[in-house]
Amino acid sequence: MQARRGELVDVLAGDGLVSEAGGELLGLVTWVVAAAANGEPGDGAAIAEIRALAVAGPMRGRGVGRALLLAAEDVLRRAGVPEGWLVTTNDNLVALELYQKAGWRLSELRAGAIDQLRRSIKPGIPAVGQHGIPLRDELELTKEL
Ligand SMILES: CC(C)(COP(=O)(O)OP(=O)(O)OC[C@H]1O[C@@H](n2cnc3c(N)ncnc32)[C@H](O)[C@@H]1OP(=O)(O)O)[C@@H](O)C(=O)NCCC(=O)NCCS
Repeated sequence: MQARRGELVDVLAGDGLVSEAGGELLGLVTWVVAAAANGEPGDGAAIAEIRALAVAGPMRGRGVGRALLLAAEDVLRRAGVPEGWLVTTNDNLVALELYQKAGWRLSELRAGAIDQLRRSIKPGIPAVGQHGIPLRDELELTKEL
């Protein structure tokens, strides 16, 4: 379960892809497609949330994460989903680099959103995140697929 936008969501719900080699799981990407908030009723406009992108520790830095992300985008594009969004956190410099190099644009900063989640629905979120950076804010990114 992952907390974002003030609620807990199941990152393994919806659809996804896995990367594997020799029967070993290297990583996965998951997404959920929903009706676009700015769509007209009945127009079928959809938007996909990338919920999880994760690569097994020893396999990181070898292109698996980027390959999974691009593969998910390709599946969504072929399904006619025009846009994606995702949430990451202020400490996740690797993810911010990966997403932006893949064409994702920063679209929203929710300053203090992680502090708020820690105070409310997910007290176990650590105070300090990756690279020793205080874990405080949500960053949202979007991409036209
Ligand atoms: C984020 C994550 C999925 C990246 O997967 P990965 O397979 O290691 O990434 P890739 O090898 O495909 O690298 C893609 C880009 O990410 C960036 N990157 C990857 N590893 C990095 C590192 N150690 N330091 C800085 N940037 C890095 C680089 O920009 C890289 O592009 P480049 O190869 O042209 O330099 C992986 O680190 C992970 O599972 N992290 C924990 C879960 C997580 O934070 N997921 C994202 C949640 S929003």
